[in-house]
Amino acid sequence: MRALVRDTYGPVDVLRLATVESPVPGPGEVVVRVRAASLNMADLDHLLGRPRASRVATGLVRPTNRGVGVDVAGTVEAVGPETTGCRPGDRVWADLFDAGHGALADRVRVPASALSPLPDHISFDDAAAAPHSGSLALQSLGAVGPIRPGERVLINGAGGCVGPFAVQIAKARGAEVTAVDHGDKLDFLRELGADHVIDYTREDVTRGDRRFDAVVDIADTRSVLAFRRCLTPGGRYVPIVRGIGSLVEKVLLGPVLGRLTGTRMHAFLWSPNQRRDLDELAGLIASGAVRPRIDRRYGLDDAVLAFRRLESGAARGKVLVIP
Ligand SMILES: NC(=O)c1ccc[n+]([C@@H]2O[C@H](COP(=O)([O-])OP(=O)(O)OC[C@H]3O[C@@H](n4cnc5c(N)ncnc54)[C@H](OP(=O)(O)O)[C@@H]3O)[C@@H](O)[C@H]2O)c1
Repeated sequence: MRALVRDTYGPVDVLRLATVESPVPGPGEVVVRVRAASLNMADLDHLLGRPRASRVATGLVRPTNRGVGVDVAGTVEAVGPETTGCRPGDRVWADLFDAGHGALADRVRVPASALSPLPDHISFDDAAAAPHSGSLALQSLGAVGPIRPGERVLINGAGGCVGPFAVQIAKARGAEVTAVDHGDKLDFLRELGADHVIDYTREDVTRGDRRFDAVVDIADTRSVLAFRRCLTPGGRYVPIVRGIGSLVEKVLLGPVLGRLTGTRMHAFLWSPNQRRDLDELAGLIASGAVRPRIDRRYGLDDAVLAFRRLESGAARGKVLVIP
């Protein structure tokens, strides 16, 4: 079978399509026939071995895992011994971030416990687009606390992988949503349902007149000190932190600043691939409240081009790879 692999850490050039042995499921494992996979920023980090501290787990000198890709939707093809909860033919989906990666292949071997059942009414393409980014959107919005109808919610960095889910989920919860991203993406943000849009290259939302009850900061380019300015009294700020420096600042300074200013500013602990998140996403997709946006589809042979599309920042929604 074909699989996208890499033997060293590095940029997209380290990727190559290889012919490898078809996987055989061990105890507690299944082999999934991949029907669709999607790319996330986490896949670029995984390629680069970024942040460097993560290499303690993924291989200090070179990656111990050659496989690439976390978001997967497909059908169970083979079930290993002593494996319960899955049968051949079952439709499944997952975020394989902490379950071995390797979604960019004809087949992937995974622990059965990592898979959630995929309802019949959700297409493989929509399912592949959602687990990683949709869960990050759900968990970050959950971390700002319950959103009351009419609350003003800011999604900063709304036009990437996570943002389109966050905008739609916040709208579904009745928020008045302001979405910030590059000027080229403002039409896309309006189409997602954002009530107000801001071009970050022209306007600094933290210095404007608007005040927000809740901020989900996906871009994570500013300090908590900046975002404190645009919160209402009692307002909540949650970043999806991207680097160690930001993590230290937001974990240490955020709660202190929040206490001093009557706001709530804190990072959250992300838990990948939670069944309850995938079930909630399935409900939101089924009801039409969330429509996964798909930018382009690539074959496995063109998966490197798919990665280049992701890193270009030009995508409007998720980039899919269909083996
Ligand atoms: N903390 C955790 O537990 C955790 C877990 C998983 C993933 N992550 C990380 O969280 C991030 C998830 O976000 P994502 O996948 O949606 O990223 P993304 O696709 O890179 O989207 C970020 C968006 O923010 C925009 N942006 C850049 N600078 C901005 C600014 N100053 N103000 C407002 N918007 C700005 C970008 O636009 P441009 O195209 O113009 O740059 C882009 O559209 C990833 O980096 C991932 O690695 C964190």
